[in-house]
Amino acid sequence: MTTESRPTGSRERAAAALTAARARTAALTDAVTDEDLTAQHSPLMSPLVWDLAHIGNQEELWLLRRVAGRESMRPEIDPLYDAFQHPRSERPKLPLLGPGEARRYAAEVRGRVFDLLERTPFEGTPLLDGGFAFGMIAQHEQQHDETMLITHQLRRGAPVLAAPDPGPPQGPPPPAAEVLVPGGPFTMGTSAEPWSLDNERPAHTRDVAPFWIDTTPVTNAAYRAFMADGGYHEPRWWAAQGWEQIRAHGIEAPLFWHREGGIWLRRRFGVTEPVPDDEPVLHVSWYEADAYARWTGRRLPTEAEWEKAARHDPRTGRSTRYPWGDADPTPAHANLGQRHLRPAPAGSYPAGASPLGVRQLIGDVWEWTASDFLPYPGFRAFPYREYSEVFFGPEHKVLRGGSFAVDPVACRGTFRNWDLPVRRQIFAGFRTARGGVA
Ligand code: AVJ
Ligand code: FE
Repeated sequence: MTTESRPTGSRERAAAALTAARARTAALTDAVTDEDLTAQHSPLMSPLVWDLAHIGNQEELWLLRRVAGRESMRPEIDPLYDAFQHPRSERPKLPLLGPGEARRYAAEVRGRVFDLLERTPFEGTPLLDGGFAFGMIAQHEQQHDETMLITHQLRRGAPVLAAPDPGPPQGPPPPAAEVLVPGGPFTMGTSAEPWSLDNERPAHTRDVAPFWIDTTPVTNAAYRAFMADGGYHEPRWWAAQGWEQIRAHGIEAPLFWHREGGIWLRRRFGVTEPVPDDEPVLHVSWYEADAYARWTGRRLPTEAEWEKAARHDPRTGRSTRYPWGDADPTPAHANLGQRHLRPAPAGSYPAGASPLGVRQLIGDVWEWTASDFLPYPGFRAFPYREYSEVFFGPEHKVLRGGSFAVDPVACRGTFRNWDLPVRRQIFAGFRTARGGVA
């Protein structure tokens, strides 16, 4: 039993996705001075000007060289923008293109790509089928746009980005704090989504025991109850390496929080504000999420449980592309695409709920799962081993669902993200589960 719905890919969709990504890249890089673009704001991140030229370089590599068979435009810069040749902390020392050169290079590549897009068939090879290579490159740029937004969050100084707040939830709150997801097989992963990346494939059957899952992500207020109960000082809630990390670094709250005059404040894109009670908690590590869940007597959902909650429609037995069905996300479904610079309050987006009433699975915050990042049965690296395969293993944990900073092109019920369990700068929160077989 592998049943899933089948969407369509098109040239117009590819052109629109590339254009939208470039507009966001421009907004993120035009917001700061050239000095800021070339500075390293955190050893965890590249200078923004590296991301900018890397976006252009990957586009040149995959679309102009691999698809169109052209020669390298500037062979001397290719090694500088190969993420595997230079760790992030060393990138500022490289002879990188300056801001003006990086912008011109990315624009030059894009101009040639648009000529190519008009003339390229969307079938014939795995890279061309459904316009995959173009979709992959649009997703790649949007992923780096999220990375650049993380750099903006780490950057010190006056705010340079603005967006309207999501406002209070529309419609009634979820009727219950958790729902029972029935046991049995469901279709996990995809063989039909034309722009799905290699780690999402292929579709396969997974049997999942019945389990309960939170209808919303865990909020700041709930997380603060854990803090107030001494959660950061009680080793029994913590995995050994998590306990080591919080003791070694004196961690007592999510990243970007500090206490002043008895209240918790947090810095968000250069603005300091009281921590909002009803927002999903953000900037916690996997270890913090896991410790909180244990404190409640619950646990993190496995990746299969998360995907079953997000895609399985008990009425039809099919797996849909999103919790609400197969339609592409609209602003009524989910907080995606950096329309807002924060997650929406827990209980928002009733129109984006799953058939069982689980909300905000897509958008708002990436959700840590209990699971290691592993290949699905039948996985094949495509089109390069360094996208997923080299990261498979117990050292990375899977995140699902996407954050407010993820564009719809890089987000769906099957999309898999991963990171080290100590990482806190990413836009990650979580929800909890109980029952089932973890
Ligand atoms: C899937 C977000 C873990 O940023 O390391 C960007 C995406 N891969 N360029 C990353 C990616 C190559 C990747 N993540
Ligand atoms: Fe990249």
